[in-house]
Amino acid sequence: MSFDRVANCYHWMEKIVFRTDLEKVRNFHLSLVRDAESILLLGDGDGRFLKKISEIGTDAQIVSVDSSSEMIRLSQSRAHNTELHVIHVCQNFQDFEFSENFRPDLIFAHFFLDCFTENEVIFIVNRLSKSSLKSTKLVISDFFLPEKGSVSGIYRRILTYVMIRFFRLFCRISAKKLPNIPKIMRSTGWTCTAHKNLRDGFINSWVWELEGYSKRP
Ligand SMILES: C[S@@+](CC[C@H](N)C(=O)[O-])C[C@H]1O[C@@H](n2cnc3c(N)ncnc32)[C@H](O)[C@@H]1O
Repeated sequence: MSFDRVANCYHWMEKIVFRTDLEKVRNFHLSLVRDAESILLLGDGDGRFLKKISEIGTDAQIVSVDSSSEMIRLSQSRAHNTELHVIHVCQNFQDFEFSENFRPDLIFAHFFLDCFTENEVIFIVNRLSKSSLKSTKLVISDFFLPEKGSVSGIYRRILTYVMIRFFRLFCRISAKKLPNIPKIMRSTGWTCTAHKNLRDGFINSWVWELEGYSKRP
């Protein structure tokens, strides 16, 4: 899988289809960076979110893992001249080795898990569980198809189908349908402690904490 072919136009494709909605959803829980010491960004893409982090300001150690060298290049150029302590790693997250001294207390995965099959998402989430602290917060932004039947629901199903086909064709993603993220998260031992959404639950940002450790809202 590689997003190299779409990296330069990804920003514009997103704007045409979703206007500013994905941007808004990515930033819903941005303020969490203020309390973080170690931040892991998964499949963060072209660095627009990293730039937002720099606007808030943080001394945290940031590790950004993305398998696309072109996305990494764009992200590095956006992070250039910021005060951030960021290490870019161009690698499949499935092969990424957590170092002893990097245990993230905040993880962001924006529109990343929808690239994978449900079994792959379970594998990724289990890896995160093993490397997380008791206090780690995992912020996931992603699509969800709540209701069947309504006109907007039908439109969203068609849009989702077209997006997945597009990314399968151009980026070779393995997903054939949207993974059911809330279901997977609960089944792997995570509890949702905050949730905001747009478009009636189609575009979401959830905050997850390991079950038993979270303070419920
Ligand atoms: C749909 S894009 C989302 C980009 C960005 N997070 C956003 O919100 O716009 C998915 C990103 O995940 C990266 N990616 C896909 N598979 C990956 C993998 N196995 N390991 C690391 N990054 C991956 C892609 O290169 C791409 O940057």
